[in-house]
Amino acid sequence: MNKTKLALMGGVPAVSIPAPGWPISGELEVAWMEGVVRSGQWSWLGPHERAFCSEFAQFIGCRYALLLCNGTVTLQCALQAVGVKPGEEVIVPALTWVATLQAALDIGARAVVVDIDRETYCLDPKAAEKAITSRTKAIIPVHLYGCMADMDAITSLAKKYSLKIVEDVAHQHGSRWKNKGAGSLGDAGSFSFQQSKVLTCGEGGAITCNEEEVYQKAFCLKHVGWKPDLATPGNHYGHNYRMTEMQAVLLRGGLRRLPEHLKIREENAARLAEGMKKLNGPVRTARRDERVTRQSYYALTLHYDQKKALGLLRNQYLAALAAEGFPLGTPYLPVYRHPLLNLYDETSPVPYREKEGIQKYRELLLPVTEQVVEKEGLVLMHQHLLGPKEYLDQLLLAMAKVNDNLTRVKNYFQKIKGEEK
Ligand SMILES: Cc1ncc(COP(=O)(O)O)c(C=O)c1O
Repeated sequence: MNKTKLALMGGVPAVSIPAPGWPISGELEVAWMEGVVRSGQWSWLGPHERAFCSEFAQFIGCRYALLLCNGTVTLQCALQAVGVKPGEEVIVPALTWVATLQAALDIGARAVVVDIDRETYCLDPKAAEKAITSRTKAIIPVHLYGCMADMDAITSLAKKYSLKIVEDVAHQHGSRWKNKGAGSLGDAGSFSFQQSKVLTCGEGGAITCNEEEVYQKAFCLKHVGWKPDLATPGNHYGHNYRMTEMQAVLLRGGLRRLPEHLKIREENAARLAEGMKKLNGPVRTARRDERVTRQSYYALTLHYDQKKALGLLRNQYLAALAAEGFPLGTPYLPVYRHPLLNLYDETSPVPYREKEGIQKYRELLLPVTEQVVEKEGLVLMHQHLLGPKEYLDQLLLAMAKVNDNLTRVKNYFQKIKGEEK
């Protein structure tokens, strides 16, 4: 039992080793960047962009990869490229970043929000099946935080009902389902390279696919209607969603480090899982599905059990842990009630579809999503999984310290509440 004074109450924090920083860059990018600046070719499929596209396609295990300016327009273009038309329905999970829902809405599709799986926090295939209608055209499994969506079940749904799959891989560059890369398992994959992601160039995104037709169409959509030969107009209504050569340089550098980072994060995630199991406290890691042959972590997915914490609220537990230097976070809010998604603002495309009564987002209350968001869900961001073993051991010590003092933490918050009255 660790009865040393909690940091929450003025004691010494258990974690003294600084948390690893993010993003990371190397000298190679600096040298390449200088070359790009001097070259004057800053955009329009320069040598680094071309090289990265083939390196990334090889890394994911698909035929094509193309770069766009963020991981929201990648979703839009991917949906359009696989053939989603305005008015058709697209199934999205309730727990994801707002962009997933927004991308479907912005191309005029009807986004149908469904509940998530209690263990992985990813789209629940059973809930998805119940939501399928004659107008359903596509499904977007989001591989969220540190678990993949059940791609066997989702692939069978897609086959059974002739649906297109657009994987949202914004969180999991390098994950593999039965040895196949996330992003190559459906009709198209959508990646984000925004600054917090495990492969980043500040802002950016990629679409991956195997079909030439999907590639050609996605290219036209992001390159103002040009075909990939940059000389022939395609026959799609395109936009300028291009990326710059400077960003491609950062991605090429990051991709060289990624395999090693993936390995370190997987080892450290296993170390934390084992450590938390031994502690047998209120926090545990999500179970690893053995069909996931490589797990990439945007964050480690965790579960909080309030009963095991003697009734301590999740935020109180988190505050005690954060004071010790172990910064756990909570998941996104449900996409149907996220404050950033002003679905009922007059500039939103939603009210027009709402008249037809598809789904009243504001009234949705999906039970598993609510339970996870309000009570059970926790995440540890990926950079912590790059720390040295000593750092991870200190995180576990911090957790052990809080677990050994749950009653004290509870009393501390009760006292504060009493004083506030
Ligand atoms: C699951 C998910 N999908 C899509 C996106 C959108 O990516 P971007 O921020 O690059 O537009 C994000 C970004 O955080 C995300 O987390």
